[in-house]
Amino acid sequence: MLNQLKQKAIKEIEQAKDLKNLEGIYRNYFGRQGELTNVLRSLKDLPAKERKEKGKLANQLKQDLEEAIKAKSKKFSVKGGQDKEWIDVTVPGILPSEGHLHPISLVQQQLEEIFQSMGFSVVDGPEIENEYYNFDALNIPKNHPARDLWDTFWLKDISLLLRTHTSPMQARYMEKHKPPLRIIVPGRCFRHEATDASHDVQFYQVEGLMVGQNVSLTNFKGVIEEFLKRFFGSGVKMRLRPSHFPFTEPSFEVDILKTQKAKGKTQNWLEIMGAGMVHPNVFKAVGYTPDKWQGFAFGVGLDRLAMLKYQIDDIRLFYSGDLRFLKQF
Ligand code: PHE
Repeated sequence: MLNQLKQKAIKEIEQAKDLKNLEGIYRNYFGRQGELTNVLRSLKDLPAKERKEKGKLANQLKQDLEEAIKAKSKKFSVKGGQDKEWIDVTVPGILPSEGHLHPISLVQQQLEEIFQSMGFSVVDGPEIENEYYNFDALNIPKNHPARDLWDTFWLKDISLLLRTHTSPMQARYMEKHKPPLRIIVPGRCFRHEATDASHDVQFYQVEGLMVGQNVSLTNFKGVIEEFLKRFFGSGVKMRLRPSHFPFTEPSFEVDILKTQKAKGKTQNWLEIMGAGMVHPNVFKAVGYTPDKWQGFAFGVGLDRLAMLKYQIDDIRLFYSGDLRFLKQF
């Protein structure tokens, strides 16, 4: 009886047309109600001696069938069964896809390199700030209308907020370090504003601060001009426009003009940073003697720089997570 079963099974396996067919055959013999499974199950009802003999044969049969099925399935898995395997070594390989940096990170890296080469250290600060560092230490008293310049996201705990600029790090850093010093602070800032092509509720700034005994406006111009030349190339022009910030005196906006010849287009000056000479009240707040020290500070928009460098016309693209945009960098 086992012999018959074997012959029947071997024949079916040989004639199997494809893998699916073969799987069906496997189930017919080895499934829960499979023919071989039933035979093996019935062994326990036999008298001891017979059970031993028949058990041996049945187990052998089980092995034979499993091997036959395995051998047959191999034929299906190499395409065309009998065909020899053939590899075309001239086909270009598939490169593993590599990740890459976000345009804002690229711009941040370039900026850090340029400032580091001029002796500035890169430092980091908290995105969640308190009122003292974001405002008070920067000479922006409570209930002063100047606070309205920064539309603030307040956290539930009323004295905490999302920093509206990187300037709080001026105070944090000076409190802990003695002058002279040169730092830049790249980081994310938040403002509770309506969004449009040039404003988003989050954006990146880099704060710059240089303090020494004779640091002057001339030093500021020299440093920024050098930065712009190396970042945009030699064609770029800059101008300072008088402005107002409570933590600098005098204060300016820095505008730049990229002098690529764009035919028929009027070129516009574009504002990229706020800046000025550090206000004596800020020095007082951090424990420096204002008579002894002077310095400049600036806050440059990284998004703005990236938009100008890569000719991007909508700031919101940076934070959209749209791969069609991001893959271009
Ligand atoms: N913190 C200012 C802003 O976000 C920019 C600034 C920085 C101005 C440093 C002067 C000095 O608008």
